[in-house]
Amino acid sequence: MAEARRIDGKARAARIIEEVTAATSSLTAETGLQPGLAVVIVGEDPASQVYVGSKAKRAVECGFKSVKHVLDADTSEAALLDLIAELNADPDIHGILVQLPLPPQIDEGKVIQAIDADKDVDGFHLVNVGRLSTGAIDEAFVPCTPAGSMILIRDVLGDDLSGLNAVIVGRSNIVGKPMAQLLLAANATVTIAHSRTKDLPALCRNADILVAAVGRPEMIGADYVKEGAVVIDVGINRIDAPEKGNNPDGSVKTRLVGDVAFEAASQKAAAITPVPGGVGPMTIAMLMANTLVAACRAAG
Ligand code: GUN
Repeated sequence: MAEARRIDGKARAARIIEEVTAATSSLTAETGLQPGLAVVIVGEDPASQVYVGSKAKRAVECGFKSVKHVLDADTSEAALLDLIAELNADPDIHGILVQLPLPPQIDEGKVIQAIDADKDVDGFHLVNVGRLSTGAIDEAFVPCTPAGSMILIRDVLGDDLSGLNAVIVGRSNIVGKPMAQLLLAANATVTIAHSRTKDLPALCRNADILVAAVGRPEMIGADYVKEGAVVIDVGINRIDAPEKGNNPDGSVKTRLVGDVAFEAASQKAAAITPVPGGVGPMTIAMLMANTLVAACRAAG
């Protein structure tokens, strides 16, 4: 079998950003409304800081008003809930994103449910989860990583996935479960696998569409991949890369890898997303698309 097609998520995301930017420009010219996105981060996790910085920067590029709230790691739940209430009431803010995970003194569920469902551009609020899982997808805000992954899958396989087996490895609320709902809505036959699944490689070898969202570097090897499968790698893992040498401070350099062993899996897959440059840029593009939709709905 020939080597897999490399799915270019970076280029696909750039096209979506262009469309969002053009639509924003028309919306603002015609109605005076500028979409507003507020991103909130609590604490100093370096990876989260990078993600939140990219989201805020991309929002500006799209022509949005972009507001970033950086709160101390010891912020109380009450203080965060107060900020969310303020953002809910702010007519200039159409999308609110609270970066997860949150520190242990804060109840994540409580915070997510406090966000106005119409400003929940992450799609984590129960109302949006309910819309997605009952088939009211057009009314839901769909979580950004699964929504972006679905676009990449459809680019390869088309809109109707009837007769195809999809296996998702990982059962998180952010990726695994909403991904399952989207694939199911597209008529795929869906299995969610996780750390307790028996004989995971054999199950995965049954997948025409394999989505890896486990957070374990390069765990999915060639023996998990069916010949001709479409492989979507949601993992973003930073690992030591001694082959790159050391940083000036003496620490070993690092590199990003996915949950899939890319080279090995490429020998069997028909199409596969790389890390970086696959699903990651799509997540941010979908956040911008969701924020634009939230603003358009607010405009009536
Ligand atoms: N943490 C990891 N992924 C996400 C995401 O998509 N949204 C938020 N809010 N936090 C995250």
